[in-house]
Amino acid sequence: MQYERLVEWASAEWEKRYPDIPYVTIWASTECSNKIAQSQVKIGRSLRGKAKYAGFDELESDVITPISDYGARGRKTVLTATAGAYLFKFESKEDVDDDFQVIYASSYFDDDVQELTAIAIVPEGRLDTWAAFESQCARAVRPRIKRRRDVYIIGGTDAFFDPTVEWEDVILAPTLKKEIFEDIEAFFSEGVELYQKLKLAPFRKLLMAGVPGTGKTMLCAALAKHALKQKRIVVYVSGSDRDGATFEKIQRAFQAVASASYPTILIVEEIDAYLRGDDKARILNVLDGIESPNNPKGTLMLATTNYPDAIDERIFKRPGRLDRIFVVPTIQEDNIAQEMLKHYMSEQWREEHKEIVPDLVDQPGAFVREVALQARMLAAHEHKSEVTLQMLQASVESLKNQMRLDGNFLLQRKPMGLGGGSSRSTPRRGLRDI
Ligand SMILES: Nc1ncnc2c1ncn2[C@@H]1O[C@H](COP(=O)(O)OP(=O)(O)OP(=O)(O)O)[C@@H](O)[C@H]1O
Ligand SMILES: [Mg+2]
Repeated sequence: MQYERLVEWASAEWEKRYPDIPYVTIWASTECSNKIAQSQVKIGRSLRGKAKYAGFDELESDVITPISDYGARGRKTVLTATAGAYLFKFESKEDVDDDFQVIYASSYFDDDVQELTAIAIVPEGRLDTWAAFESQCARAVRPRIKRRRDVYIIGGTDAFFDPTVEWEDVILAPTLKKEIFEDIEAFFSEGVELYQKLKLAPFRKLLMAGVPGTGKTMLCAALAKHALKQKRIVVYVSGSDRDGATFEKIQRAFQAVASASYPTILIVEEIDAYLRGDDKARILNVLDGIESPNNPKGTLMLATTNYPDAIDERIFKRPGRLDRIFVVPTIQEDNIAQEMLKHYMSEQWREEHKEIVPDLVDQPGAFVREVALQARMLAAHEHKSEVTLQMLQASVESLKNQMRLDGNFLLQRKPMGLGGGSSRSTPRRGLRDI
């Protein structure tokens, strides 16, 4: 066992240095050898009682091969979790004779399961100070969550999730919009209390499923805006950055939810990506309520997917995993298509534009936006203030052609920057946002 080798080495080292000082051997926190903690917990930091931290020396050990992990902290790439041996030093603010040291060793014991094991040798009677030091290290390493007003953003590309979309700007069949809205409001107004009466954690899970570009993200942004007005907290998780869809992000989201103590909307974009990765079992635990956040004020999860097929049948079929699934469809009716076109043509809208409406049915909203945008750009380019029907028709043709060549192109343009493109990087060790 690796920990035995660590303890053996550390106690021999102790005997060599401090033969007369009695000690205890303990499991220690691996955060003390994390390079972030080591650079952030500064010499002189007060600990419990009269003790203060006095720095560390690196020790050599023939049973430990020093190695560090690394990750992104803000814009910088830094060393993080580290295996190594250290002498941590503590001083008394009053009495020099009260100084003491701790021998600490951390190591990996398995190449595959990259988890550190750490032990420490602490002089008798010093556990309080050591525990205070460990918790300072843990605090330094704890993931940071960007908080902007009442929105917590976890993952995603540089662009912020910006809940600035107006509910009126989301163009969908009125019944669908109404159902989604009322489901959420009913949960917060009555559901939370009901869950509590039934001794269940108030956690409701809705899924928005639909092909790319139908407005799922937009819908989430509009619902987030409304939630903020109601003094609810919004937590937004995206798997579409290079860290990928890792369970760690969900955990961070739950930390934010747990500390919110307000009604919370938890948006999990592209939940299918988590279900395809190694963390699937844990996501299922969340959906089953085993690992879900316990926020007494209620948490409503809004998950999105554009790959409903990728979602395991077991989720759809098993009651309780998702409370409700809303299909956000492509445009189904002429009147919705027209409303959408009018919206994106805005002041350049003309009655004759109606003629392209049949071409817009069965397309996602993003298509209509592109058609309108392209035609308006063409007019601007030609220094014309009016967009002719021919310009719109040409725009429809060229976009349909483009879709034949590259069905994905609609995904590459996300004006709101919510979670960026739909790249689904696989989770990778190392570079994560910490
Ligand atoms: N129902 C809609 N009403 C108004 N605009 C829409 C609608 N659907 C799409 N759009 C336009 O298309 C853009 C892209 O839509 P959005 O990102 O919300 O789609 P999505 O369903 O989240 O797609 P994906 O599955 O690829 O994430 C929106 O920002 C908006 O400009
Ligand atoms: Mg989306």
